[in-house]
Parts: sequence; C-alpha cells; structure tokens
Amino acid sequence: MNEPFRLLVIGDVHYDPSGNDEPQRRPSRGVQLVRDAISDAVGRFGIHAVALMGDLVEDGHDPDTPENLQKLAEAARTAAADIPLLVVPGNHDVDAERLLGIFGTEAGGHEIAGCRLFVFSDMWWADDTGHRPQEQQRLFVDWAAAGDGPIVALQHNPIHPPVENDYPYALAEHERVTADYAAAGVTLSVSAHYHAGLPLTFLAGVGYFTSPALHKPPHPYTVITIGPEGPRVLPQYLETA
Ligand SMILES: [Fe+2]
Ligand SMILES: [Fe+2]
Repeated sequence: MNEPFRLLVIGDVHYDPSGNDEPQRRPSRGVQLVRDAISDAVGRFGIHAVALMGDLVEDGHDPDTPENLQKLAEAARTAAADIPLLVVPGNHDVDAERLLGIFGTEAGGHEIAGCRLFVFSDMWWADDTGHRPQEQQRLFVDWAAAGDGPIVALQHNPIHPPVENDYPYALAEHERVTADYAAAGVTLSVSAHYHAGLPLTFLAGVGYFTSPALHKPPHPYTVITIGPEGPRVLPQYLETA
C-alpha cells in the first residue's frame, strides 16, 4: 500500500421518516445525515470505501422499510459516487438479504485499494443475544488465509471489550471470534450497535473499535486509516458547537 487506506464508518442511522425527533436522537433525519456524512468525509479526507454499520432503519418490521432503505441507498450512492459501499446488517434491519439487495452489495470478503474487508451478517435471537453463524466464521478463516494485505472485520455487534450484561452485548461467541481474528492477523475489527461507541482498544494485536450512532447529536461519524503504523481512528461530527 502506497498510502493509508481510508474507510468511512457510519454507525446506527435508525431512520424513520415519521419518527419523533428528540434532543437526544433524530430518527427522521437519516437520509440527510447519511448524505452529509459521506459528502463531508469524501470532500475532506478522500475515502476508499464507505461502511454502513447496520441498524439503518428504526423498525425493520415497518411496511415502509423497503422504501426507507431505498431512500438511504439512493442518498449513499449519490454522495459516494464511485466509492465502494459496504453494508453490515443490524438487529433493527431484520431482513439482511433484503437490506443487502437494496444496496446492491454483499456480505463476505471484499478487496478494495489494497485492503481486505470482510462483512459479517450475524444473527439475533429472541432473547436479544447476538450470534456468529459458524459457517460464516469458517468462510472468514479460509478467506483470511488465502490472501495478503491488512484485514478489517466488520460486524454490527461489539466484539471486544465484552460486556456481560444486557447492553451493550457482545456476540455470545466473542471468545472464539477474538481468537480467530488474532490467528488470522486481523488489523482492525469494527462494530456499532452500542450507540455511545467504544474507543480503539487492542487485544492480542488486533484493534477493536465501536462506532457511535450517527442519528444522535452531535451526529458522529468516523474516518479510519489503515497504514504501516496500524489503524488510526479519527472521530468527526456533523454538528459542531
Ligand atoms: Fe442501534
Ligand atoms: Fe443494534
């Protein structure tokens, strides 16, 4: 890699055009927030890929969800122009296949500008625990072993640090996942779901970062760089004091 890889990370949008905005959350502004975050980051940093980290809509069971996802996809595609768009299914999105189809993207491995990125589509059980399908984890391990270049793993739920209470909840299989990431030489694991976000921490040589939620003022997004010195996290805000 001649220059650092730059990834724009956008956490929990929770879009609901008829939702009530409150001082602490603005679900009705999702389309505008996504458009603004991408335009802002592309203009100021130059971006190699955009990752939408899940919970794109507030209620995936709402009959208007396909239409709302269409609006988000259109806004993202227009703002990102030719920049690759990665989408990570979240627990509020409900139907991962429909979500990825509307955005015209896929889970699994992607190679972009010398960086290797793997999108996981995890599952949520009725007891609100998150789970990593074994088949996907096996696919990831094989994919990781078959190429060169820094690896970024993307999933909705936080992996590390694990918090053993209701919220934020790490994936139930987080110990196996962190062991596999270390063995695969993952540079950075990126998550969302915990709306306050969690700073970059390292475990067994792997960086773990949890993105804050875009729909909450001051509307944070994150630019991540992957270079020879490892991952760097540059927090940004659409609303400044
Ligand atoms: Fe969320
Ligand atoms: Fe979530």
